[in-house]
Amino acid sequence: MEQTLVIIKPSAVERGLIGEIITRFQRKGLNIAGLKMMQLGEDILREHYAHLVNRPFFPWILASMMATPVIVVCVKGTDAVNVVRMMTGATNGRNAVPGTIRGDFSVSSQENIIHASDSVENAEIEIKRFFKPEEIFDYTSRSIEFIYAPDEH
Ligand code: PPS
Repeated sequence: MEQTLVIIKPSAVERGLIGEIITRFQRKGLNIAGLKMMQLGEDILREHYAHLVNRPFFPWILASMMATPVIVVCVKGTDAVNVVRMMTGATNGRNAVPGTIRGDFSVSSQENIIHASDSVENAEIEIKRFFKPEEIFDYTSRSIEFIYAPDEH
């Protein structure tokens, strides 16, 4: 099964949305394979947002992402990267479709509630960036046969 990385950003932590976001993934039928709170620093953010360091808004990304601790989540499921990206919605909350996480809780490109990996390759890199191997748990929900057909998991 696929794994993907979600960062519940300070915009969600500060607004009391941690539980709401995790609940959405669980209700969908996705599994939580790893979960922790961490305070991000400049080094890990420069690595994580390396493709944006030369953008004029990069200093604002740093300040925004360090404003409070974040929650990092490893979400697991069949096609988890794509499923989570669809649940997340467009980068700019003003363009995100209602029903998506950003569509329901954000009106901003910067304060857009969560980060979600955009490809299987990046998900693997990002999970390693934020989690130690022993912090990812391999277990199967007993409800799996009520979530997937036999050939889907
Ligand atoms: S891009 O522009 O296509 O490379 O952007 P993308 O890969 O979607 O990632 C953009 C991330 O930067 C954060 N951010 C902003 N984006 C656009 N405009 C402004 N002003 C801005 N400020 C911050 C945005 O939240 C995306 O972060 P993640 O964590 O990937 O959602």
